Amino acid sequence: MLSLKEQIEKFQKEINEFNVATAADIENYRIRFLGAKGIVKQLLAEMKNVAPELKKDAGQLLNSFKQYAENKIASVKEIQVQEKSVPKIDFSLPATPLPIGTRHPLKIMENNIVNIFEKIGFSVATGPEIEDDWHNFTSLNMPANHTARDMQDTFYVAQNPDWVLRTHTSSVQARILETQSLPVRVICPGRVYRNETISARAHCFFHQCEGLYVDKNVSFADLKQTLYYFVTEMFGADTKVRFRPSYFPFTEPSAEMDISCTVCGGKGCNLCKHSGWVEILGCGMVHPNMLRNFNIDPEVYSGFAFGMGVERMTQIKYQINDLRLYSQNDVRFLRQFQSI
Ligand code: PHE
Repeated sequence: MLSLKEQIEKFQKEINEFNVATAADIENYRIRFLGAKGIVKQLLAEMKNVAPELKKDAGQLLNSFKQYAENKIASVKEIQVQEKSVPKIDFSLPATPLPIGTRHPLKIMENNIVNIFEKIGFSVATGPEIEDDWHNFTSLNMPANHTARDMQDTFYVAQNPDWVLRTHTSSVQARILETQSLPVRVICPGRVYRNETISARAHCFFHQCEGLYVDKNVSFADLKQTLYYFVTEMFGADTKVRFRPSYFPFTEPSAEMDISCTVCGGKGCNLCKHSGWVEILGCGMVHPNMLRNFNIDPEVYSGFAFGMGVERMTQIKYQINDLRLYSQNDVRFLRQFQSI
């Protein structure tokens, strides 16, 4: 018959080889070694046959064997708990694709406009949306009580009557003339605010791109040629252009520019209100008073300026006929511009 020590060695070997991969394995193991009639209990029962002087050693041997048997499933259970809490990750799987967002149609249009002017040497200038009276009005040849201030319904900042939400990005042109040395050639994109009732055709905020070029010998012909180039790039070489005399306080002479309707080609449709023409921008030669406001001598320097509405351009290009769509954040509308 095997001695206690030999039996323990035999069972330790069996424990080492016992496969406890599944829950059923663990249960079988527990019954065989740790159960009420298991090996540990059986060996403990043999203690009574051990001679008294050997009891101490045998007791220690059995205790460490019991520990050994228990440790095996304790460690397996620990691993199982860990495996349950750490989700299994298959690093070889392809990644879940992230849905790609879309550019806002107004940003697409703004980028288009800016790119066209950058090609002929204009650089982008931006400025604050909360402006002071000087940059938004007075320096642009619209002193206090000038009737032209009524052309733009202005939001005033309640805390300071000198502050307004800019009504046009001409305010950026003022800042450029104030800080930069001549010649200047800038395009000024940005959001502007006017106190209008929101409808399909008007909004209390919208976007503009205004341009300014001041140098020696800048003429109205330069202005026209620059705008012809712009229209050709934006709407194609077949587009016709016409200028109508107009009035802006900061330009003299002033004009509004129309292009032949991009939808009907001039035959008459809803976009052009059956006139064959759509208005796209205001422009003119920078008023001498405005140049003087920035200590520029109008006898030496001249310049042109123009300003267009980005919503209007987008409406013409993509035939979007309700201004409110731009700010309602309806993804069904916005997603349509995914591939542009
Ligand atoms: N600032 C004008 C507006 O907002 C547009 C404009 C700019 C006209 C430059 C002429 C020259 O209506």
